[in-house]
Amino acid sequence: QTGMFTYDPGFLSTAACQSAITYIDGDKGELLYRGYPIEQLATNCDYLETCHLLLYGELPDAAQKKDFVSRVTNHTMVNEQMQFFLRGFRRDAHPMAIMTGLVGALSAFYHDSTDINNPAHRDIAAIRLIAKMPTLVAMAYKYTIGQPYMYPRNDLSYSGNFLHMMFATPCEEYKVNPVLERALDRIFILHADHEQNASTSTVRLCGSSGTNPFAAIAAGVACLWGPAHGGANEAALNMLGDIQKNGGIENIGEFIKQVKDKNSTVKLMGFGHRVYKNYDPRAKLMQETCKEVLHEMGLENDPLFKLAMALEKIALEDDYFVSRKLYPNVDFYSGIVQRAIGIPVPLFTAVFALARNVGWMAQLNEMIGDPEYKIGRPRQLFVGSVPREVKPMAER
Ligand code: SDX
Repeated sequence: QTGMFTYDPGFLSTAACQSAITYIDGDKGELLYRGYPIEQLATNCDYLETCHLLLYGELPDAAQKKDFVSRVTNHTMVNEQMQFFLRGFRRDAHPMAIMTGLVGALSAFYHDSTDINNPAHRDIAAIRLIAKMPTLVAMAYKYTIGQPYMYPRNDLSYSGNFLHMMFATPCEEYKVNPVLERALDRIFILHADHEQNASTSTVRLCGSSGTNPFAAIAAGVACLWGPAHGGANEAALNMLGDIQKNGGIENIGEFIKQVKDKNSTVKLMGFGHRVYKNYDPRAKLMQETCKEVLHEMGLENDPLFKLAMALEKIALEDDYFVSRKLYPNVDFYSGIVQRAIGIPVPLFTAVFALARNVGWMAQLNEMIGDPEYKIGRPRQLFVGSVPREVKPMAER
């Protein structure tokens, strides 16, 4: 019994850690950040308020918010040297390959001044990472399309600044659309943390060695890239595109048949979850955001959105998915809404990493801040060979 939450002893024996940050009830489809339901945060707060909540445990009051926003805003530029790291990549490099490199490269500028055991140092590292991730993602994008980087602007909101760095050029101003700005901010909130998922566990394990937070976050970026995890939003959109190319809604039956085929490895990307065995609450909010953005962009008849809704309807009624408790997860609609905002498909997971960075940092902080923590050392069940003697080469 921990507070209002009860766990069966079997679960406790598998728990990787104790945390007070995010609570998920997979059977009920509930997600709470520091006790606040995700639905209320996504409706009543913005991303930087949510960052304050995840990092410090409380939503900020007006003065605290003003101070937090000012600290983040004043760290959005990156060292001018950072641009030279990008030149080592091919122009067609995947943005997540670039991001893994760039976030790790931040260590080169700050690790020697970051004592991971000093809470003040961890706090400035969190602020720097929250502030610089949008700048780095936008630089990765501009590099792949051969356009000059756009500097951050202190007069714009966090998500507005990201949109501006992504889509403005020195020759043409980009006017931030408030509907897109709010939608992107909500996407950041929905992706901010998710208890001990694969990339967060990677950051905890990596950080437990005492390495600097930039290196630990870079490990999280690398893990998130996988299609079974954060890469699923890109994979889900590519899947919808393939179905669309092969007959669209009329062809869904054929696709579902492939998914069900025992010998096929085809999965319904954006469906299923290690914990949610009910509807992912983030997916519902993402679908609403999708409708708002598609309406704003005059894309109500977007074929991929219609295809996604049709696919979801079929899956929610089909025994194969229902019996396996496979429901849409956060990644199912996030690709469609990002594409409607104008974010290119290869950037989707980098946007996920941008948003999840604060969750990684909050979880790393919580672990390092616990005086009992030690370096992580997952155990194994050895199923290999019994001890044996080495034979001389002639007898092998
Ligand atoms: C994220 O952990 C987190 O919190 C992650 C995340 C976060 O915020 O950090 O929520 C973000 O990663 C969301 C998940 C994104 N991934 C995808 O959408 C990829 C597609 N989903 C699958 O790869 C899968 O659902 C997982 C990996 C997400 C979850 O797998 P599980 O819970 O371990 O389920 P499983 O692999 O044991 O599958 C159980 C059954 C199997 O069939 P059987 O062997 O029983 O016949 O369900 C089938 C699976 O084949 N199955 C699917 C399926 N997912 C599971 N079949 C078709 N399509 C799918 N998507």
